[in-house]
Amino acid sequence: MTRLGDPPPADLLDDAERLSLPQLRALQRERLAETLAHAYAKVPHYRRAFDAAGLTPLDFRDLPDLAKFPFTTKADLRDNYPFGMFAVPREKVARIHASSGTTGKPTVVGYTRKDIETWAAVVARSIRASGGRPGMMVHVAYGYGLFTGGLGAHYGAEALGCTVIPMSGGMSERQVQLITDFRPEIIMVTPSYMLALLDEFRKQGIDPRSTSLRIGIFGAEPWTEAMRAQIEEAFDIHAVDIYGLSEVIGPGVANECVETKDGPHIWEDHFYPEVIDPATGEPVPEGEPGELVFTSLTKEAMPIIRYRTRDLTRLLPGTARPAMRRMQKITGRSDDMIILRGVNVFPSQVEEQILRVPNLAPHYQLILTREGPMDAMTIAVECEPGASEAERAAAARTLSHHVKAMIGVSAAIEVRDPGAIERSLGKARRVVDKRKL
Ligand code: DLL
Repeated sequence: MTRLGDPPPADLLDDAERLSLPQLRALQRERLAETLAHAYAKVPHYRRAFDAAGLTPLDFRDLPDLAKFPFTTKADLRDNYPFGMFAVPREKVARIHASSGTTGKPTVVGYTRKDIETWAAVVARSIRASGGRPGMMVHVAYGYGLFTGGLGAHYGAEALGCTVIPMSGGMSERQVQLITDFRPEIIMVTPSYMLALLDEFRKQGIDPRSTSLRIGIFGAEPWTEAMRAQIEEAFDIHAVDIYGLSEVIGPGVANECVETKDGPHIWEDHFYPEVIDPATGEPVPEGEPGELVFTSLTKEAMPIIRYRTRDLTRLLPGTARPAMRRMQKITGRSDDMIILRGVNVFPSQVEEQILRVPNLAPHYQLILTREGPMDAMTIAVECEPGASEAERAAAARTLSHHVKAMIGVSAAIEVRDPGAIERSLGKARRVVDKRKL
């Protein structure tokens, strides 16, 4: 018997996870050439974009040539709403997903039957990397519907041979009841909603460390190492990071290996990563921070070329899967970055500081306001149940000091009662920008 946290036996891995680096690079070269040809032949947007850059797919001969090709952005997807980015006739599209976005039209993505199988296979691989095995029970609390989280996790868990509980998000009381009664080993959910479930376990007087859960596969939003420590301790589970985005496929683009927990391994046989300088668009040297860019290698319905994710990270060498690179845990998105009197602030930096302070709970929002020409930030954060007035005041002072010292900005601190910060059922809303109102 292997214990959780041991590396999986080699015969459990997919062939692609065992490729040598030269074999992987050769596979990527071949698949990139095919993908560029497929996109150019079938999607008018790509034909126009490549033509405008004076390129054809034949200009791709080796991996560095990819950097000559134009980027794809969310605006390109919006301009081709709803189905203009599809590379197959609509009848061949087996599934549509969409991400709502905050304004205007949603971003629409499509999958052939084979794309759904590919997606299930990468999510199955992700669950296995997290320590999941066939026969385990998986409670899926990512939202089902147009969001890729629920159905993506669901098909992957089935493909691995797990028993799936398609719970979706919300109804926390019910979630806790079913976890207690059905006894799943694995939960897949956003980290912020896992904290809402933590509250609910406590409310029902159930020790969260006593449940059957052993593994949590958390993603869809940024979460810090401090949050990992907090969740692992509270539930006595392994907390593992899953990354993905609808435009590229959904969850399962990259996943941490439970034996190392050192940032998600990118499943590079299906998704080719680059990191660029967001200002110039130039690739940065390997290991330097920048914006993550992905090209799909096997997608049929919606091949995606050099998609700018807006996610900020750096590429690191493979560890548990030596040939596949890792991405450093995402610290934030360029669009989440707050510039406060010239200082760049990410919600994740504030989260790290909150989790250092006794009597504060990891439920928080950053509220931005403008007084005259000056932007101001208030950190609204809950206290732990039972904290006294004096403890709350002391916590506010400590947090204010940490934020000033570690991030370099002054923020007002508002310590609120337990439960006073809005709970999300999926992705948490960390920034409330009142400057635009
Ligand atoms: O959130 C897909 C997903 C579902 C991933 C469930 C993991 C688990 P979108 O709604 O298109 O797709 O949002 C994608 O969410 O560009 C990141 O900014 C953020 N994101 C996703 N996973 C992580 C993660 C899904 N592990 C956007 N860490 C991405 C940090 C993440 N941010």
